Amino acid sequence: MELLKNKIVEEGIVLSDTVLKVDTFLNHQMDPFLMQEMGKEFAAYFADAGITKVVTIESSGIAPAIMAALHLEVPMIFARKRKSLTLQDGLLTAKVYSFTKQEENEISIADKFISEDDTVLIIDDFLANGQAAFGLMELVKQANAKVAGIGIVIEKAFQDGGKQLREQGVNVYSLARVSSLADNKVTFATEQIEEVGV
Ligand code: G4P
Repeated sequence: MELLKNKIVEEGIVLSDTVLKVDTFLNHQMDPFLMQEMGKEFAAYFADAGITKVVTIESSGIAPAIMAALHLEVPMIFARKRKSLTLQDGLLTAKVYSFTKQEENEISIADKFISEDDTVLIIDDFLANGQAAFGLMELVKQANAKVAGIGIVIEKAFQDGGKQLREQGVNVYSLARVSSLADNKVTFATEQIEEVGV
């Protein structure tokens, strides 16, 4: 998506060979116009997939996910990383290990919000090692619902998550795929990803 790639080039800061800082439009300050356009793009790509729910994980996944849900005209649910005071029983839960932060979170969604009749689109801001995506897929599986695909804002294609998910037959659609952050420079992947069937 050109609009997003331009924004990354103009405002992204390469913190290291593996970490891209995008807190001016995605991870802290958020750009609502860009979010809306990204939501439209996800909705158009998954338009024929029969999506009934969009699922993401707090916090930075929420903005692109709500915009995708708005354009797909379905509800959005975000998984919590901490137990909510009002949310104790009837939970779908999965463990998510972050290699970046070296910590494990138990993520959860109230089971009343996803049922076996649902076809779910998972959205997240970054795809690195894929742990969040696998955790969200586990929640959907526990509800006996179907995962139609995963929409990612920025995929770091030099990390393993995208490859692992696609090898399992998951349809991963990333709006920008970064192939390298070496030499303080953002390089985008140019190869085409084979579609896994929407
Ligand atoms: P994984 O889920 O793909 O395995 O990713 P990982 O554990 O490595 O990522 C943990 C957190 O770090 C996630 O956010 C993820 O979005 C974020 N992250 C990973 N790589 C980058 C990067 O290059 N740049 C930035 N800015 N973030 C990155 P989180 O802790 O869940 O944060 P938030 O959603 O609450 O903002």
